[in-house]
Order: sequence, then structure tokens, then C-alpha cells
Amino acid sequence: MTIGSDRLQRRMARGAAFLGSEVAILGGAMSWVSERNLVSAISNAGGFGVIACGAMTPALLDAEIAATQAMTDKPFGVNLITMHPDLVELIAVCTRHKVGHVVLAGGLPPKGSLEAIKAGGAKVICFAPTLALAKKLIRSGVDALVIEGMEAGGHIGPVSTSVLAQEMLPEIAELVPVFVAGGIGRGEAIAGYLDMGAAGVQLGTRFVCGTESIAHANFKKAFIRASARDAIASVQLDARLPVIPVRALKNAAGELFSAKQREVAGHLDEGRVAMGEAQLQIEHYWAGALRRAVVDGDVEHGSVMAGQSVGMVTKEEPVADIIVELMGQAAAALEARAA
Ligand SMILES: Cc1cc2nc3c(=O)[nH]c(=O)nc-3n(C[C@H](O)[C@H](O)[C@H](O)COP(=O)(O)O)c2cc1C
Repeated sequence: MTIGSDRLQRRMARGAAFLGSEVAILGGAMSWVSERNLVSAISNAGGFGVIACGAMTPALLDAEIAATQAMTDKPFGVNLITMHPDLVELIAVCTRHKVGHVVLAGGLPPKGSLEAIKAGGAKVICFAPTLALAKKLIRSGVDALVIEGMEAGGHIGPVSTSVLAQEMLPEIAELVPVFVAGGIGRGEAIAGYLDMGAAGVQLGTRFVCGTESIAHANFKKAFIRASARDAIASVQLDARLPVIPVRALKNAAGELFSAKQREVAGHLDEGRVAMGEAQLQIEHYWAGALRRAVVDGDVEHGSVMAGQSVGMVTKEEPVADIIVELMGQAAAALEARAA
């Protein structure tokens, strides 16, 4: 059975062929959320699930890939963070399991990493924050790109999805498949980005409340209650302490984080800590906050990372229903244009 319509499937054909999936919708990797259950559910429903490696050790990633393969015979990818100290070993784990697609997140790929992934037979997908970097990544041999706007949940850049799409798609969409991410909550938006030349899309926030997602019930409840304006970006308070903005639901954790920044900046002023140590304290404070919310269900003191599309998450429902609904809306939008 065709999901969506033939017209939509034709529009998604390039992205779907690249991914090896039925539809060109990636489930964006979400640390602690995108594990075997959600990833296999997305791939089994015709999309393309991506495991979030996050801070996992190579042994944990090895087990997670094996468990996911036991739950689906469809393709899925693995998202690796470029600054992970064991990146080389993590790539080797993906190669051993014949993972078809590796997504590199968290900065430009370190020297040799692209080559190592490709030598192992996998395709490489990278995030392109600017047009210049997109062109550089294409020259270095990436197979596809994700452009992600600041509407997204999790770590974000400064530019909106609609501006990135307008700036970048006309220049790069013919060179490699480009997947658009950030703020997508309905299929009409998917149709719009396909019209603009995208090969497909990546959604995170919309999949958190999938029935198959292991996110804590409190985490899901917070998503269902929240509206777009509750998903706010963290603010850097001191120029000396760089903070990559994170979009999450407003709660006590955000305020405590501000207080922590002020405290560490004060220690810097007094010369009580060195710069490196101060920055590390900030990172350590933040690390684990997402786990606290997703796994332990502490949605007040943990980080409830969510994109602005959270207002369009209204209930817990099977992943397959989410994909069918998105595809139905996208198909209807394309049919309306053709009429
Ligand atoms: C709870 C949460 C955790 C995330 N963790 C990661 C991550 O570990 N690595 C990554 O590359 N992106 C991460 N993201 C971003 C998603 O992969 C995806 O690109 C994003 O959610 C897309 O935008 P949307 O939330 O508006 O759909 C995360 C997003 C959320 C909501």
C-alpha cells in the first residue's frame, strides 16, 4: 500500500532511495529517546530511524545496534557526536554491524572520520550550519546533508528553518540529497520543503510521544501540555563561558542553569577557577540533565528538550499513525497544488 499518494512518493523518491526507506522522513536522533524501540518503530513504519549514540561507550552502542537489528529488518542509521573521545571505535562498531548510514552531529567531522565511515561502506550524513560549510562538506565527500533551523529541539543554531531552506536549497539540493529539519509538525510543511528542492525531512519533537518511545510518562505529558512558546532557547550569560543554545521546555532547570552560569562566572572573576575548568563545570552541569527528564521523569529539574512544534503534539499515538498522518497531509497539499 502506498503511504500518502503516488505524487508524494515520486517527490520523495530520491530521498527514500538514498535512505533505503519507503518514505523520506528521518526520525532525528534524540539522546536517551532514540534507542531500539523508537528507532525500529520508525523504520518499521516506513520512515528512517536513527539511533542517538550520545555519550554511549562503544560496547553500549554495539549492543544497541544489535538489539535494533533484532527488532527491524529495515534500514536505520546511527548518529555519532563528533567530539566523542571514542569516535574512531564507534565508527568501527557501525562498520562491524554494516550500518548503512552514519550521521555526524555536533560540529565539523574530524580529519579522517568521513573517510573511515565511507571505507566501511556506509553513507555519511552531516549537518550544514551555513551555505559555505555545506559546500565545503560536499567537496569533502559527504553523501547527504541535514539543514536544521533554530525552531528545533535540542542544540540549535541561530537561523530559522525557513531562511536556511531558502538560502541553501537552491544552491545545494541538486548536488546531494538535503533533508530539512526543525519546526516541522504537519505534512503541509513537508510538501513545502519538497517543493523547494528538499529530498526529505527530519523530525524529532513529533516522535517523542510515539507509543513505542520509551520517554518517561512525565516527559510525554509535558510535551502534550506545552505550546510552541514554552519551548525556549537557553541563554548564555557570560561572554567567557560559551553555551551552545539548547531549546527545551521552560522549567526550573533553565533557571538553575542561569544561576550556575552566574556562579561560575563569579568564581572566574575572583580567580578561583581557570577558564578550562569553568567551562567544564558548565558542561558537566548540563550533561545528564536530559537523562534526568527522559529516563527519571524529573521534568522540573531535568532538561525537557523540545522544538517549537511541540504545540502540535496532542496525544500519545503509534509511530505508524504519525507517519501516515504526516504523509496524508503532505499528499493532500500536493494534490491541491496540482488541481
Ligand atoms: C529531546 C531531543 C533530543 C535530541 N538529541 C539530539 C542528539 O543527541 N543528537 C542530534 O544530532 N540531535 C538531537 N536532537 C535534534 C533532533 O535529532 C532533530 O534534528 C530535531 O528534533 C528536529 O527538529 P524538531 O524537534 O523541530 O522536529 C534532539 C532533539 C530533541 C527534541
